[in-house]
Amino acid sequence: MHGITNRQVYLSSRPTGVPRAENFSLRVAEVPALAEGEILIRNHYLSADPAMRGWISDVGGYWPQVAIGETMRAFAVGEVIESHHPEYTVGDRLMGIFGWQEYAAVSDKHVLLKVPDGDLSLSLYLGVLGLNGLTAYFGLLDIGAPKQGDTVVVSTAAGAVGSCVGQIGKLRGCRTVGIAGGPAKARQCLEEFGYDIAIDYKSNVNLDEALQAACPNGVDIYFDNTSGPISDAVMRQLRIGARIVICGTASYSSWNPWNSGPRPERHLIVKRARMQGFLATDYAPRYPEAVLTLANWVRRGEVRYAEEILEGVERAPESIERLYRGEHTGKLLIKLPAAQS
Ligand SMILES: NC(=O)c1ccc[n+]([C@@H]2O[C@H](COP(=O)([O-])OP(=O)(O)OC[C@H]3O[C@@H](n4cnc5c(N)ncnc54)[C@H](OP(=O)(O)O)[C@@H]3O)[C@@H](O)[C@H]2O)c1
Repeated sequence: MHGITNRQVYLSSRPTGVPRAENFSLRVAEVPALAEGEILIRNHYLSADPAMRGWISDVGGYWPQVAIGETMRAFAVGEVIESHHPEYTVGDRLMGIFGWQEYAAVSDKHVLLKVPDGDLSLSLYLGVLGLNGLTAYFGLLDIGAPKQGDTVVVSTAAGAVGSCVGQIGKLRGCRTVGIAGGPAKARQCLEEFGYDIAIDYKSNVNLDEALQAACPNGVDIYFDNTSGPISDAVMRQLRIGARIVICGTASYSSWNPWNSGPRPERHLIVKRARMQGFLATDYAPRYPEAVLTLANWVRRGEVRYAEEILEGVERAPESIERLYRGEHTGKLLIKLPAAQS
């Protein structure tokens, strides 16, 4: 034992829909002694991600379900304060799956990225240089395969992933159309994230008409973060050879019973379109390459980002609900005392 106390947020009850603060509890535990091959990380920032809903849901997902009583699985960034692993030394800054807690004693399987030394804030490695930016990068460039002049439509366009997709699209010479909820987010899409057109789906706009006007030649790439009625409307505007990147399903209020709705197959046949889901974590071996490129874009001001920061591990439980209510701006993070700036 280290005599270090660790504040952890754990799953105390299983939610049926979007997780609420009441589904989590806070406890104090002692940091265990490290086994051979493990490292001890002091977390600086914790991430809140829509995906966390799937990790604790009763409906099976791509990773094992978090058990009741288990510290909540979460992406985090921190620094190594003790190492029993040959590849990591004290002072290394790492991004990985370190949980909603102040300290994490983990094996190397939990590490996703060694943060390069440099001028950029550690918090960015959970957002524009972390899973969100990487999701945008691989989803758009690998699955969407943008070409100069393509029209790219993005849902949750002002969010952490969506805002980055739009800007990478512009860097590839595309026309970008963002769909976001509320006038403030629509304005942010235009003024901060460089979208050519922004559609506020929460206004009383007719989405079909707005999309037709925004995409007179049709949609070449749809980066889908929502599914639901927004996607149904975009499907009706596809262009021949369109690519639909299935990234998230933020609009589903429930996964049980399973969602049903308009079926896209006919649109896919008529437009010879391709629809493909992907997981950014499958691209882990290519993270260093992507982070280097994203970091250069951020340094040059070609990719901008927004962050909203809650202070203290005790704020983590409210964060997922906040994400799904769309109340946050950009990347929602939890800052811990270890983070100095
Ligand atoms: N496939 C992958 O590997 C991967 C990795 C990371 C993230 N994702 C997915 O990418 C998407 C965006 O993630 P993010 O971290 O950047 O979150 P985010 O977009 O910053 O936040 C989630 C957004 O979902 C929107 N939303 C919530 N309820 C909605 C509804 N009923 N209809 C339409 N929109 C709704 C809200 O945007 P508005 O305020 O604009 O409504 C909210 O801001 C999520 O679906 C997430 O699961 C996938």
